Amino acid sequence: MTGPVLAVDQGTSGTKALVICPERGVIGSGSAPVRPRYGPGGAVEADPAELLGSVLDAGAQALAAAAEPVVAVGLANQGETVLAWDPDTGKPLTDAIVWQDRRAERICGELAPREEELKRLTGLPLDPYFAAPKMAWIRRELTREGVVTTSDSWLVHRLTGAFVTDAATAGRTQLLDLDDVGWSPAALDVFGLGDERLPAVVDAAGMFGTTTAFGGELPLTGLLVDQQAALLAQGALEPGTAKCTYGTGAFLLAQTGPVPRRGSSGLVSCVAWRLGGRTSYCLDGQVYTAASAVRWLTDLNIISGAADLDPVGGGVPDSGGVTFVPALAGLAAPWWRGDLRGSVTGLSLDTTAGHLVRALCEGIAAQVVELADAVAADLGSPLTALRVDGGLTRSALLMQTQADLLQRPVEVSALPDVTALGAGAVARLGIDPALSLAEAVPAWQPAAVYEPRIGAAEAAERLAGFRAAVGTLLERS
Ligand code: G3P
Repeated sequence: MTGPVLAVDQGTSGTKALVICPERGVIGSGSAPVRPRYGPGGAVEADPAELLGSVLDAGAQALAAAAEPVVAVGLANQGETVLAWDPDTGKPLTDAIVWQDRRAERICGELAPREEELKRLTGLPLDPYFAAPKMAWIRRELTREGVVTTSDSWLVHRLTGAFVTDAATAGRTQLLDLDDVGWSPAALDVFGLGDERLPAVVDAAGMFGTTTAFGGELPLTGLLVDQQAALLAQGALEPGTAKCTYGTGAFLLAQTGPVPRRGSSGLVSCVAWRLGGRTSYCLDGQVYTAASAVRWLTDLNIISGAADLDPVGGGVPDSGGVTFVPALAGLAAPWWRGDLRGSVTGLSLDTTAGHLVRALCEGIAAQVVELADAVAADLGSPLTALRVDGGLTRSALLMQTQADLLQRPVEVSALPDVTALGAGAVARLGIDPALSLAEAVPAWQPAAVYEPRIGAAEAAERLAGFRAAVGTLLERS
């Protein structure tokens, strides 16, 4: 069966939907915002009804814009967001605890003696970012009723009645055995989740049930966690190829092929996707706050939004001695210090909004360099270039800063909404298993390539300033 597919990307700050035709590409699109709520103690919550509503709304917009029938649906989801819900009625029993939520910090502290065992089993270090600490926190603090799962399982259940999760999303829980790609009884036991009813772990492409949520009855044939969906759509199919998505956070993933690579540089080793029963793995590094750090500057009225980054930052030649470590929700790989908080240093009476904007761009870009260096150390060779996508790639200032600090070309995807394209690719594989992976993925082309404009010595000096600022935070903690 062939024809357009509806691909939905349910993200932290909003949902995007595309209708993708195999011959003509994107023929309709839609979007709907999601508004996470930030609270004390590192709380970040979302209303499950808003998540589902945004999926239906964005999907309906895309279908209306395309004005053509679709043959299947694919869904990408934010990775580590969890909630408890009633499996009989589908009713949420808690809010969605968003991946940025830090309230499981204490649980992680209690389990610290088991960290090495968990790393060996699951490829992931112990951190509240992952789903299992949050699932344990929900069980301890909120409810023992119903099931507790990642948000994809709930959305799919509401759409189709199925109780499933794709192998890559399952790999973000810290409950999946990295080698045999099934739930790990040992890891479940560590988190006290051994009695939980868990969704079936499925491939990214298949027949997962049907939904009438978008009009007529449609099969759901693609499921993939969002960062891995972007990795797929960026054409990172060969070991050593990598992408970085600049969304709410920034996430750098590098394809490592059919065997898991447990790195020693602080990156996560996890499932890229499982297709036809065969697993591809990747290394994954995270910057917890990218667009959410831009939003923070916006909330303080220093800029009026992401569109201001270039005009405001472009008004000054450099950061004026300001160093910004945008660890507003802590630092992830390679430091794994979610308890740290951000810093802005080097302020003076003549510091302007432009200096702060440039310092923020450097702070985000410097963290991505740390991740790229960690990938290079684990793979034994540097990345030759970095493919990038996500809303913040519209900032030429951020992208140029990235190329400068990375000392490598930064290639911006010509296709916006790459994550949804990845969901569309697996949906196509689900209806047409004869397709090869390369055939299902849209042809990759850059809209822009940023070449480094500074020399290696200047890049090293700027990175050293950032690392010194991180070092100060680490010393003080
Ligand atoms: O791991 C978190 C990630 O899945 C969220 O992605 O696009 O909502 O920032 P995004």
